[in-house]
Order: sequence, then structure tokens, then C-alpha cells
Amino acid sequence: MAQHPTVLLIDEDTATIDSIRRALGDQASHFKLRRVADVPTALARIWGGGIDVVLLNLAASANPVEIVAENPLAPLRALQEKAQGIAVVVLCDYAGEGLARTAVQQGAAAYLLREAFEADLLKVLRSVSGKAAPSPAIPRSLTPSGKGGKIIAFIGAKGGGGTTTVALNVAAALAGRRRVILVELHPELGSLPLYFQPHRSARDIGDLLAAHRAQDIPLREFESSLWPVKNVPGLQVLYGSRNEQNSVPLDPVNATHILGLASEIADYVIVDLPASFSETNRAVLENSDCLALVVERDPISVQSARLILNRVDSWKAGKLTIGAVILNRAALVSPMPFSEIAADLHIRTLGVIPPATDLCAAAQHAHAPMVTLDTESLASVAMHDLAREIEELIPSAGPAERMEDGPLAAYHASQKMTRAGVR
Ligand SMILES: Nc1ncnc2c1ncn2[C@@H]1O[C@H](COP(=O)(O)OP(=O)(O)OP(=O)(O)O)[C@@H](O)[C@H]1O
Ligand SMILES: [Mg+2]
Repeated sequence: MAQHPTVLLIDEDTATIDSIRRALGDQASHFKLRRVADVPTALARIWGGGIDVVLLNLAASANPVEIVAENPLAPLRALQEKAQGIAVVVLCDYAGEGLARTAVQQGAAAYLLREAFEADLLKVLRSVSGKAAPSPAIPRSLTPSGKGGKIIAFIGAKGGGGTTTVALNVAAALAGRRRVILVELHPELGSLPLYFQPHRSARDIGDLLAAHRAQDIPLREFESSLWPVKNVPGLQVLYGSRNEQNSVPLDPVNATHILGLASEIADYVIVDLPASFSETNRAVLENSDCLALVVERDPISVQSARLILNRVDSWKAGKLTIGAVILNRAALVSPMPFSEIAADLHIRTLGVIPPATDLCAAAQHAHAPMVTLDTESLASVAMHDLAREIEELIPSAGPAERMEDGPLAAYHASQKMTRAGVR
């Protein structure tokens, strides 16, 4: 919990925040007070991260009229569904005390009477903000066994450092023997559609969320939104939203439900995440089996990786196996030595990817993973080795299947040829 908890007031009336400051008196500086006028704006702030407590004014019409008309507790319900785990304290006046009690019965952390702010506000804020908000857990109940595929998240220490390239090639390498879904969880501007060039009609996360609440997405519809990658049997892609009309934002609840569905079908779910401390990234990592942190061999990338690891340490990602993928995009004259990177990060190295500028460009032109284009290249072999390392560290429950036409078969053939000195 932050040293100075951030309290988000949802109230159209700008005067309430002043009365809160007055009630807190000289303790006001121990809280960061923020105000938004309605629940949708509040949700955007909460998903952005850093909000410890929400104060929801039920007395004012702080929410879209139609929601309130339906059910006065609908704003609370919306917060509970879309920002699971956030502590919500309800504000009311004497006349609304009955409603506030019902709100507490239905999961609000506490209620405060505006007429008695002075006496209770500080106590309630202190006790409620001391409780950490858990991320939503992935629902793993769709299959009878309840066992899901393994979730492997890829994050770059910084943007543009090769994360998507590594994620999609590892996904393709694993797909030689496993059912793999590559999921793009970028809130915007994900590059996977640019890499694979799916048909315009291909459905994506935005389409799914526009049609259903995440928790209600039918498995069949989820499956029909997966894009099968040409020439890579066993690999399907779920693209992030490509259409700005699909305005449902990615949030922790949506993300965990999507991963829950993917892990019911696949042996491995490979997640392409942006470099960010967002609540969505947090929820994904708290539910993942492995974090592969893609680091370039320069001091800025390594320092940035350290910051990400520090933050992940503070999250409840206890079961997460963390490792670095060291990526060389160019052959530097004096790259940062591996020993220095290891000493800085204190995590295992999952793999080292050599420079492959021309192969990357060829793969982009062919809209295909590099491991399918030139199986003998050092970079392709390194991607396969990385996939193998991840598979050994995080074994999938099911038996491996050989897909003779897949990249694995080609990889084995090339390995045999290399060993036999044919190359
Ligand atoms: N091993 C490599 N050698 C040379 N270039 C590479 C290598 N891996 C990736 N690249 C190139 O680096 C660029 C960025 O790659 P990529 O899109 O995978 O990065 P990213 O970290 O996912 O970026 P973003 O932050 O935009 O999501 C691309 O042009 C890609 O071809
Ligand atoms: Mg990317």
C-alpha cells in the first residue's frame, strides 16, 4: 500500500472534495484526494493503477441517469464487476442511510454519513486503505478438470525492443507439439495484426467485448475469434482490439476472463503485454505461470527491467517464474556483458537471441514467424531453444504431440542435418 493512499471520490459536485479536506484537517496531506464525476471515468482511473480507495457518493446523481434510475446501487455493482477488489466506501446523508447499509451488505467496504464526516472519515479511510486490493483471479472452471493451460507472459523492459517478435516466434516454436494461443493484451496499437496481416473479417478482443461482458463470452464464440496462423498448425492468435469503434477498454476483469477462456483450450497461452505497470498487467502477471522479460544489452534496458522486477515483487505474483530473454537486435561493439546483466537483475536467463535484422525483415514481408522461414538460422534455433527452456520450466499437463508439418519437424530435421555436418 502506498505511503499516501490515493482516494478517488466519485461525485459530480465539486464541493464535496473540499468538505472532505476540511474534515481531514491536518491529516489531509497524508492522502492524495482525486475527484471524478462519474463511474466510467472512475473505472478508467482505477484501471490506470494507483487508486487505493473509492468514495462513492450515493446521495448525488454522480452516475449516468439511466443507471441510477434502474437501481440506485448500480454504480456500486459496476465498480465491483469492473474493478474487482477495489475498496468502495459509500457516502450518503441521513436520508440515504438505509441504502448505504444495503450497499455494505452487498460488498461496499463501509459507509460514511456526510453529517458525521468529522468523526468517522479519517478512521474509515485509514482502515480501508490498509487492505490491499487483490487482482481478479482467472476463472478456471470451464473444463471438468478445471486444469488450464500454462500462461506465459512476455513483457519488454522497454518498448520497441523485440518483445512481440520473441513472443510470436516462441508461440510458433511451441506450436510444433502443443496447442498454443497467442493473445495480444495491448490496450491499443498492438502490432500482431501488422505482423500476421489477418483478413479484415478476423474477429478480435474488441469484437468479443463489444458483444458480451467478459464473464459471459461463450467458449464457442471465443474459439471462432481465434485466427489460425497459416503454415503453423497448432498456433492461433487472438488479436487485441483493432477498431476504435470497439470502445470497451481492456481491464483486469476482461483480461483475466479472456485468459481463462484461452487456457481452457490451449496447452500454452502466450501473452504479448505492453511495458506498463497497469492494473491489467498486474492482474495478468498475478495469474501467469511465467514472466519472460525481454531485455536488450544496454544500461537503459537493464535499468528499466530492474524497475519492472521491483514492481512485480510488490504484487502478489507468488507462483510466477521469472526469467530474462536477452535480445541482441544489433551486433554492438561493446554490448553489456551477460555477467553484469545477471548481477543487476538476479533472475535466470531463459534464452539469448542473436541479431537477425534481415531474417526479421523477411519474416515481416512474408507475414510469417521467422522460425518457419529459416529454421537453420541462429535466431530461429535460439527461439526454439527458448521455447524448449520455457516448456521444461513450466511443463504443460498434457502430453506433447508431434505435428509433422509444423516448425518443430523442420527444426528437428535441421538439427539432425547440422549435427551430421550436412550444413
Ligand atoms: N533479433 C533481432 N534482430 C534484429 N532486429 C530485431 C530482432 N528482434 C526484433 N527485431 C526488430 O525490432 C523491431 C521491434 O520489434 P517488436 O515489434 O518485436 O518490438 P516490441 O518490443 O514488441 O515493440 P512494441 O513496444 O512496439 O510492442 C522490429 O523491427 C523487429 O523486426
Ligand atoms: Mg510489441
